[in-house]
Amino acid sequence: MATIYPSLIAGDLMNLRKELSTLDPEADGYHIDVMDYHFVKNLTWGPQFVNAIANTTQKPLYVHLMVDDPTDWLGKFSLPFHSTIGIHIESEGEVRKNLLRIKELHASSSLVVNPGTNIDLIFPYLDIVDTVLLMTVQPGFSGQPFIPDVVQKIDPLLGYRQTDGLKFKIGMDGGIGKHNIAGLAERGVDWFAVGSAIFDAPNRVKALRELKELAK
Ligand code: DX5
Ligand code: ZN
Repeated sequence: MATIYPSLIAGDLMNLRKELSTLDPEADGYHIDVMDYHFVKNLTWGPQFVNAIANTTQKPLYVHLMVDDPTDWLGKFSLPFHSTIGIHIESEGEVRKNLLRIKELHASSSLVVNPGTNIDLIFPYLDIVDTVLLMTVQPGFSGQPFIPDVVQKIDPLLGYRQTDGLKFKIGMDGGIGKHNIAGLAERGVDWFAVGSAIFDAPNRVKALRELKELAK
């Protein structure tokens, strides 16, 4: 059974409290995109705002850091239990050190990979990664179409996981919806961030339920 986190960037930003209370009964957690206008050409929320969201829901959060160097950001979040912090393999800073620091902070560690990045680059870190997040759009904006080439990265990850007896989850972020979630879950994707397919739907809860059903 795949896990689905609504991606709040696609929500009604002036009514996030309402978005959370509407989705809480159905959501496994929430995906929060932190962007610094350098790593990607968009700007969203800083730690204070993320921590305010953390105080408004009991659900685990996935904090997706799209920032030049995540090193100094890591200690600034106060997250609910079972939350995850994701750093990009393409960002600056020492990857292994930062992943270990995330674990010290009692969060799960995640490594995020852009569509054009060779998946081999993350293999040296898989022993300390809880979730590999494959970007299936160029990071920065919600509402973009899914990039099908990224699907090729699933099999090498499944193979590596099995051969090395590892337990990391495989996630996807970007362009996920009713048209592709079932096939991706079947291919082995365990975890999805979903923005517009939930928040652009007339009924968010119904849209999330349908996606969960399809990803079973
Ligand atoms: C893109 C973000 C995604 C985005 C997903 O940079 O990382 O989390 O919100 O939105 P959809 O599902 O609309 O592609
Ligand atoms: Zn994201």
